[in-house]
Amino acid sequence: MKYKAKNALLEVVGLLLFATLRADASTTVTLNGSACPVDAVITRDVCVIGGGASGTYAAIRLSDLGKSVVVVEQQDRLGGHTQTYTDPVTGGHIDYGVEDWHNLPVVLDFFARLNVSLVTQSNSVYGTSQYYDFSTGKSVPGYSAGDPTPGLTAYAAQLAANYSYLEEGFGGIPYPVPSDLLLPFGEFVIKYSLQSVVSLIFSVSQGLGNLLAQPTLYVFKSFGLGIIQGFEEGYLTTAANDNSLLYEHAYAELEPNVLLNSTILLVNRSSPNEANVLVSNPSGQTLLKCGKLVFAIPPKLNNLEGWDLSLSELSLFGQFTNSAYYTAIVRNSGLPSNITFVNVSPNTIYQIPKLPGIYEISPTGITGLLNVKFGSSQTLPDSEVQQQILSTIANLQVAGKTPGVPSLAVYSSHAPFELAVSPSAIAAGFYKELYALQGQRNTYYTGAAFHTQDSSLLWQFTEALLPSITDS
Ligand SMILES: Cc1cc2nc3c(=O)[nH]c(=O)nc-3n(C[C@H](O)[C@H](O)[C@H](O)COP(=O)(O)OP(=O)(O)OC[C@H]3O[C@@H](n4cnc5c(N)ncnc54)[C@H](O)[C@@H]3O)c2cc1C
Ligand SMILES: *[C@@H]1O[C@H](CO)[C@@H](O)[C@H](O)[C@H]1NC(C)=O
Ligand SMILES: *[C@@H]1O[C@H](CO)[C@@H](O)[C@H](O)[C@H]1NC(C)=O
Ligand SMILES: *[C@@H]1O[C@H](CO)[C@@H](O)[C@H](O)[C@H]1NC(C)=O
Ligand SMILES: *[C@@H]1O[C@H](CO)[C@@H](O)[C@H](O)[C@H]1NC(C)=O
Ligand SMILES: *[C@@H]1O[C@H](CO)[C@@H](O)[C@H](O)[C@H]1NC(C)=O
Ligand SMILES: *[C@@H]1O[C@H](CO)[C@@H](O)[C@H](O)[C@H]1NC(C)=O
Repeated sequence: MKYKAKNALLEVVGLLLFATLRADASTTVTLNGSACPVDAVITRDVCVIGGGASGTYAAIRLSDLGKSVVVVEQQDRLGGHTQTYTDPVTGGHIDYGVEDWHNLPVVLDFFARLNVSLVTQSNSVYGTSQYYDFSTGKSVPGYSAGDPTPGLTAYAAQLAANYSYLEEGFGGIPYPVPSDLLLPFGEFVIKYSLQSVVSLIFSVSQGLGNLLAQPTLYVFKSFGLGIIQGFEEGYLTTAANDNSLLYEHAYAELEPNVLLNSTILLVNRSSPNEANVLVSNPSGQTLLKCGKLVFAIPPKLNNLEGWDLSLSELSLFGQFTNSAYYTAIVRNSGLPSNITFVNVSPNTIYQIPKLPGIYEISPTGITGLLNVKFGSSQTLPDSEVQQQILSTIANLQVAGKTPGVPSLAVYSSHAPFELAVSPSAIAAGFYKELYALQGQRNTYYTGAAFHTQDSSLLWQFTEALLPSITDS
């Protein structure tokens, strides 16, 4: 009840402010030395840049803590990597992005706050697995994923004994950095005889690119204690089988303080008490006068045009490389709707396939529609990924496959996905310097690059950031 009243009030204030300033159009502001036309001005305690998992969480929580907020999002919706396809034929939903969350207080609280019901996820929809070499289309009859237990147990014991701080972020890394964290994961596997868990990690931690080449730090971050615990306890997903509901409810609460379809033109943080952000969206150019910024977008330099990056931001963000992850839902695949087709290679170590390529093709719960997950160690043109998905499916030599021309019901690029830096950068204190940016120039950083590709853990991380945003 308290939440509702406060938000209603904020909405009215927001509307009034927006309406008044819209009327006073065609002014200009000087943010970069030249006159920039401005159609509206919005003043807020906090401007949240990016309306995905982290940004949406920050906006809801800050507004509940009495701060006025506005969210700037480039897409036409909130939710980021959380995406839901609604089948026009059956009306059924398919979550083809983020699927599940951990059973953690922060998760239960956030879903309760937004009135979205959770259930323990059932894996029954995936059916049995069959193993194919997607590069040839042929079945790999002798293949067995094997029992991951010995490797998993040893891996988990190491994490729990020596690296549990990683569950909270990169902040707990000791210096000098333990050398095992810097080893390419393939070498770590051999050093500790973890071979039996490799294919499990490859299939759970999709999107890491070349798994065996990644510094072990990133594998620990991605395939962490919470994930392992979830194997026993189960993960949570929405009862309505529609994970986007969370973000739709958040949007309804935050509106009109969400600027969708918006591009950042300029950010100027030179004033000590304010950050100015010039945004272009379908209704014109809006100047945001922000007490603070929450930065919740991938910090790649090509995503930060117009930002007044400091030398350290420029140097730190410039070091990120990324892998890429793509999703699609395929129609007319000719494949049965009750089997997960797993890509394995008869010729590689651990039989994990070479990327770029499809990880797996799995049932969606709706007959005739299949989920496809595709990975690459670097960003690829979308046309190339789409073409490879369709040709791989066409080439799969599955017995009883019905002929037809597969098509993409929906396709989504999640590039850049995992942001990483080199082992030498990690050793030289990259994450110490990255975390030292917190609060500098009224900017607070969250999102996967600052922690991990995991909504539950990102909400926990963002929650821990709130006191420093609200306290001053
Ligand atoms: C296919 C897939 C499945 C996944 N499954 C799970 C899962 O089951 N459970 C889980 O916990 N995690 C899962 N993840 C990981 C997921 O990425 C994280 O959980 C989480 O969504 C990351 O949150 P974020 O805030 O960092 O990024 P995002 O949620 O991507 O949010 C970033 C937002 O910023 C916007 N943006 C980017 N650049 C700009 C810009 N320049 N200006 C304005 N807006 C911008 C984007 O459009 C986006 O909305 C999955 C990821 C993928 C791709
Ligand atoms: C930011 O604005 C100030 C004036 O407020 C100006 O002096 C400065 O050059 C601007 N910074 C950039 C990077 O344009
Ligand atoms: C955003 O753009 C999409 C299409 O590109 C459009 O359908 C939608 O109405 C726009 N939304 C807003 C709030 O501008
Ligand atoms: C919460 O959602 C349920 C349906 O899922 C609805 O019946 C109820 O009215 C909602 N409650 C609030 C407070 O919005
Ligand atoms: C944790 O690290 C110590 C010191 O390096 C090592 O002796 C120990 O075996 C490690 N624990 C596990 C469970 O691997
Ligand atoms: C200032 O920013 C505006 C808006 O992005 C741009 O059109 C203009 O060229 C910029 N001027 C300078 C001097 O950078
Ligand atoms: C899949 O469904 C078909 C019928 O549509 C059935 O014959 C087959 O046994 C099922 N396979 C599995 C593995 O459940």
